[in-house]
Amino acid sequence: MDRMLPSGLFGNGVVAAPMAGGPSNPPLAEAAGRAGGVGFLAAGYKSAERLAGELEALFATGLGFGVNLFVPRDEGLDRGAVLAYRERLRPVARRLGVELPEPRWEDDDAYPAKLDILLERVPPIVSFTFALPPARDVARLRAAGAFTIQTVTTADEARAAEDLGVDAVVVQHPSAGGHSGAFLADPLLAAFSGTLPELVAEVRGAVGLPLLAAGGIGTPTDADAARHAGASAVQLGTAFLRTPEAGTNAVHRRALTDAAFDRTAQTRAFSGKVARGLENGFMRDFADGPAGYPVIHYLTAPLRAAAVAAGDPHGTNLWAGTGWKSARDEPARDVVAHFAG
Ligand SMILES: Cc1cc2nc3c(=O)[nH]c(=O)nc-3n(C[C@H](O)[C@H](O)[C@H](O)COP(=O)(O)O)c2cc1C
Repeated sequence: MDRMLPSGLFGNGVVAAPMAGGPSNPPLAEAAGRAGGVGFLAAGYKSAERLAGELEALFATGLGFGVNLFVPRDEGLDRGAVLAYRERLRPVARRLGVELPEPRWEDDDAYPAKLDILLERVPPIVSFTFALPPARDVARLRAAGAFTIQTVTTADEARAAEDLGVDAVVVQHPSAGGHSGAFLADPLLAAFSGTLPELVAEVRGAVGLPLLAAGGIGTPTDADAARHAGASAVQLGTAFLRTPEAGTNAVHRRALTDAAFDRTAQTRAFSGKVARGLENGFMRDFADGPAGYPVIHYLTAPLRAAAVAAGDPHGTNLWAGTGWKSARDEPARDVVAHFAG
């Protein structure tokens, strides 16, 4: 197995991470590509039709880019715990004047339809998170010409991804903003306790695949340390959240520069899946929120939308990695240049 990433696909090795929920959009992916890095479209939460439209926008640029898919999996849902959580959310809904939706017990994020689109209009890169896709899907995408990547959070997950047959892995550290891609163990109970370079080195010892390092990279020194440990590229999310190209909402943007938010933490409160964000009121009030993705994501969606509309940073998810204080208001091309090796 070749440890190098195909350089034509990854440019200078600075990847603007897929960020579902708004931040990743065609302008951000295009700007990262034009700057010599590579950008991603985030398929998560979108309709298949919307993804198809974004794909065409990126193909029209003539640049390389990637598309990221949420892979559905059976999370062993405790329906009683989800319904009890729904009751606890009632006063919040009342305060905001919104209806709590009925639980959407089954939701696959339209994965089959999105996969079909990617098999028809094949992007240069496809990455997967939240679970391993069926081996057949990886084989079909590869046969169609896509370079495939799996997000992993441990050496065991990297071995499983290698066995599946992907071309590379994103090694995601617990300091990463947004959801953890962990799929073999609970990311709160079994989180890697060392640094990102230590995790990269451990995964490097476990698999022969090329590695992309992600999580908490705030400075060029952080990026260099990850490369030195064996990463062929760095994937950054939080560093791009304040770029003018990103679709980050105004409440999220303001909170990233508000000194009142002085730490990040991991939470299940918003979506039922572990994610890292700026610690706010909702995270403190529902610190013991149950597991249950994506049903809890859809349960809290109207609450979060209402909080954003009201300009309230304490009622919505403010995803951010531990390096958020280093993020700047600057064009994506400057972020790419800043982190280029
Ligand atoms: C707002 C936000 C949304 C994210 N959405 C996704 C996503 O849709 N798919 C994915 O694979 N990773 C997602 N991530 C995780 C990133 O791919 C990456 O692992 C992370 O941003 C790296 O850590 P950093 O934010 O500290 O740079 C998201 C991260 C953030 C901050």
